[in-house]
Amino acid sequence: MWSVNLVEMLKLNNLTKSFGSNLAVDGLSLEIRRGEIFGLLGPNGAGKSTTVHMAVGLLQPDQGTAELRGEGSPHDRRVRSLIGMAPQSLALYEDLSGEENLTFFGRLQGLSGSPLSQRVDWALSFVDLSDRRKDPVAAYSGGMKRRLNLAAAVIHRPSLLLLDEPTVGVDPQSRNSIFDKVLQLKDEGCTVVYTTHYMEEAQKLCDRVGIIDRGHLLALDTVDKLIAQHGGKSLVRAERAEGETQLETDQPLVELERLLQEGGLLRLSVERPNLESVFLNLTGRTLRD
Ligand SMILES: Nc1ncnc2c1ncn2[C@@H]1O[C@H](COP(=O)(O)OP(=O)(O)OP(=O)(O)O)[C@@H](O)[C@H]1O
Ligand SMILES: [Mg+2]
Repeated sequence: MWSVNLVEMLKLNNLTKSFGSNLAVDGLSLEIRRGEIFGLLGPNGAGKSTTVHMAVGLLQPDQGTAELRGEGSPHDRRVRSLIGMAPQSLALYEDLSGEENLTFFGRLQGLSGSPLSQRVDWALSFVDLSDRRKDPVAAYSGGMKRRLNLAAAVIHRPSLLLLDEPTVGVDPQSRNSIFDKVLQLKDEGCTVVYTTHYMEEAQKLCDRVGIIDRGHLLALDTVDKLIAQHGGKSLVRAERAEGETQLETDQPLVELERLLQEGGLLRLSVERPNLESVFLNLTGRTLRD
């Protein structure tokens, strides 16, 4: 007798991967819940892409397992077909048009005939590229390429989508368009794993966030809980004719009230901790390159 936990969608259990003597992912365990947008954050080289590649069955772990709950391992072709992935390094053929790229990726997913052409039309319109469908990808802007990369990942209507830094090198317009698409996919029931270095993105989009460094999971929770636990204090700044004073506090409202009562203020501001404070508190400020 066995039962499936319907809340869990993807379970990563003790995933471990080394490249030579470099331990890239070190016993990483976490569960992605059905229907959520899960943010995987970490500095350069933290092991995010390696984790994503093991989660979708592209890379064999040295130890541990990835499992799509109720379905099995992503190494199984049938299970793999339930998953979509937009890789960090764009996986597009520059000499082919957007339409030809999507037709190719759709065929790889087993689509053909009119269901294939319907999905290609849908995917092009989903990422606002219908009018550029015949142009070679080489002529696309960075934002258009990222949007096509996303379209290729969802051509087969996956239930689980992994986006590895889907907004690198794109302008604010394309970035916002990509956010909207991710939220739309979530509304349609798709579960999303999203890696990024942009904290505002994770704060805006993600239901839960996991922060990893050196292949270890350092913290995992909702953004609000991570900020409460690891964000540190608020910074209150008060400017008077004689100069500026700054103070760190857990109770910014109390301090604001006190300063207002004291009077004589030219300017008053409060900086609350955010996800970036959490990230830097957990992973440190040392450069990683
Ligand atoms: N194919 C590979 N061969 C050798 N080393 C690799 C390979 N892929 C990753 N690594 C190493 O494994 C570690 C983790 O890399 P990974 O790409 O997973 O990190 P990341 O968190 O995705 O980083 P970034 O934010 O820069 O994308 C790094 O030290 C990287 O140099
Ligand atoms: Mg990466």
